Amino acid sequence: QATTEVDLAKIEPGQGVITTFRKQPLFVRNLTPKEIAEANAVDISTLRDPETLAERTKTGKENWLITLGVCTHLGCIPLGIHEGDNRGIFGGYFCPCHGSQYDTAARIRQGPAPKNLFVPEYTFNSDTAITVG
Ligand code: FES
Repeated sequence: QATTEVDLAKIEPGQGVITTFRKQPLFVRNLTPKEIAEANAVDISTLRDPETLAERTKTGKENWLITLGVCTHLGCIPLGIHEGDNRGIFGGYFCPCHGSQYDTAARIRQGPAPKNLFVPEYTFNSDTAITVG
């Protein structure tokens, strides 16, 4: 289908879910205040693909990080969407294929991937539901 609905109600801070969007893995993560603070503490001029967390989320809903779960190196599914996964040295996602490290805004920080995890178009239908696509 062209769009994907995601129910956010049961995703607690620190947790995430993986679903699919147009046949690709989609990561939906509820960032903790600490993870948000870590993302906002980064000087974006130091980034390979410079973007702020605010640019990658919706105003007032910066805790909801919605990205494809597709490493921008060669397309593996990174680890980290599930609490308890290896989230890598920057606390976001870790791609075990060749060691790309993403931060809590899913921005590439180390390793071979050239770009941040892709943020698709989406809208909030309510405080607890989004439509992606
Ligand atoms: Fe992720 Fe190569 S596919 S690091």
